[in-house]
Amino acid sequence: MFENVTPRPDDPIMAIMNQCKSDPRPHKIDLGVGVYKDDNGHTTILNSVKLAEKICNQEETTKSYIGTIGNQDFCKNILQFIFEKDNPIFQEDRICSAQSAGGSGALRIGAELIKIASPEATVWTSTPTWANHIPLVSSVGLKMKQYPYYNKSTLQVDFEEMLSHLSKKAKPGDIILLHGCCHNPTGADLSDSQWDRLAIFLNENELYPFIDLAYFGLGKGMKEDTYGLRKVTQICPEVLLAASCSKNFALYRDRTGFVAAICKDQEKTQMIKVLFGAIQRKLISMPPDHGAAIVNKIFTDHKLFDVWEMELNEMRNRIKNLRLKLSEAFNSQGASNIANAIINQNGMFSMLPLNAQQAESLRSNHAIYLMNSGRINIAGANTKNINRVAEAVLKVI
Ligand SMILES: Cc1ncc(COP(=O)(O)O)c(C=O)c1O
Repeated sequence: MFENVTPRPDDPIMAIMNQCKSDPRPHKIDLGVGVYKDDNGHTTILNSVKLAEKICNQEETTKSYIGTIGNQDFCKNILQFIFEKDNPIFQEDRICSAQSAGGSGALRIGAELIKIASPEATVWTSTPTWANHIPLVSSVGLKMKQYPYYNKSTLQVDFEEMLSHLSKKAKPGDIILLHGCCHNPTGADLSDSQWDRLAIFLNENELYPFIDLAYFGLGKGMKEDTYGLRKVTQICPEVLLAASCSKNFALYRDRTGFVAAICKDQEKTQMIKVLFGAIQRKLISMPPDHGAAIVNKIFTDHKLFDVWEMELNEMRNRIKNLRLKLSEAFNSQGASNIANAIINQNGMFSMLPLNAQQAESLRSNHAIYLMNSGRINIAGANTKNINRVAEAVLKVI
């Protein structure tokens, strides 16, 4: 059965993670993998999650199946929080959702839905984008293309270039995959006014937004990080959303997320809801419940919600503080362009103007682990070693 299998290289991020793990140098800094770490380098379980988990364990009376669209209370509560309860999409019954195995599961269900609904559509992703977007979406057999997004010379979003490219190359009915906030890998987000323009542009050109919301709450704040999603939902008649609770609830391994569709009318909404269930059924039958039950407990218990909000604020402020320190360190060494970019970006990631050779030099000569693309996870550093990151980067440039 396995005769024709040939060796494959490790996934690049896993390879760098393993290389870092086996590096004996005590001063090593891991800026590779995209998980939040505290100032001691730990990815701890949130107190709100621990407390909610305890209550869930006490209350749980069965482990029986929940269903192909998973925990609908979880989806409803988190969606009403993001969009606000009085949003007409709820009153008009224009939104449906399914719980998924993390944000990746949500993206896969979304891609499968596009393949059924618009098999000829091309899905457009930003250049660059999360390393798994293209393998994940293209694996359902959809055509994919890329639009310009991040300019590695100015270290900023090239918004005019993005719109100009899409207006010339994308066809009505195509799907535009967008990062809702905290763009991975660059940290460079659209401003509110750019989202306003983009929403109108998409609607006028009959392009459909597919929003990947993997880091909401870790950029500027919960409301600010979902501005773009709400704006396109207000303007465009149909929107797909893939969301993850891996990062903002630190539930990485519990695989917690959801996919949602905003549809033109109630009838279509019902059809898409059934399709979500059918797609999940053929992929994994039903999503894992544990993480969704925890998040739902947090959303339905005021005290737990307050604890979680505080913990989320703490994570976000730590990232912002590290950004500030890193930016100051670059500035004090004369690299004001990098300093300005870093302070204006959001979330855990930034993309430094480095090539693969320079990234390798940082790993081998300075024990600083980052992706070959120049992507760094700022949360992997701490207040004591952040200055060394700037010093080392400027030595290899
Ligand atoms: C942009 C983006 N989308 C989706 C995901 C998927 O997250 P999950 O771990 O919940 O599958 C990630 C995870 O790194 C991500 O960076």
